[in-house]
Amino acid sequence: MRIDVLTLFPEAFRGPLDVSIVKRAREDGLLDLHIYDIREHATDRHRTVDDYPFGGGQGMVMRVDVLDRALEFVRGQAPERGLVVYLTPAGERLNDRIVRELAAEPRLILVCGRYEGVDERFVEHFVDREISIGDYVLTGGELPAMVLIDAVTRHIPGALGDAASPQEESFADGLLEHPQYTRPAEYKGWSVPEVLLSGHHAKIAAWRRQQRLERTRRRRPDLLEGKDDPA
Ligand code: ADE
Repeated sequence: MRIDVLTLFPEAFRGPLDVSIVKRAREDGLLDLHIYDIREHATDRHRTVDDYPFGGGQGMVMRVDVLDRALEFVRGQAPERGLVVYLTPAGERLNDRIVRELAAEPRLILVCGRYEGVDERFVEHFVDREISIGDYVLTGGELPAMVLIDAVTRHIPGALGDAASPQEESFADGLLEHPQYTRPAEYKGWSVPEVLLSGHHAKIAAWRRQQRLERTRRRRPDLLEGKDDPA
């Protein structure tokens, strides 16, 4: 899968995507990630990428002409058209279903906004999907883009290694994860639930299922809505 990122802060992408599973996916050629600086597509002497909002108001708005040129350049870098995703708190809220849909695309082009956002004509004419990572406002779309890249990478076949599967995890069936324990079995008098040491696989599976249901009921009852028989 190929992912292109359009940003005013390419340096933000150094580091977080160079560790662990995402790093290995890139090294293995499963994820082909490219970061592009929007400012390189500004045409004036001052390399202006934004301007005051028409109608007044706070902050600056990213210019449609600069974004258009930047996107056209990025599109030309690979044969696949690419699904254009704009990260914005005004988008649909990211969840496991959307992550899977995006992971099935051959190419994503992520656009990171800054300041008060981007000119709506860019959104209207070029953006396929507007995505928010939650109901809070960040200073820009860079962290949301990295969240999306991380979440999508886990769904690229082979990225988690042979044994693991995102299918077996939290949210695949709409429930939160059960608690996990490892050695030592006793620490400062805190013991591990007896059943996990029993070696009885069916009992362990039933206990974990119960824990997942209880946690979900307590912490995220919204996930159970509309489910007739989650057990
Ligand atoms: N840009 C600023 N805040 C954001 C959010 N919560 N989700 C996506 N993009 C954003």
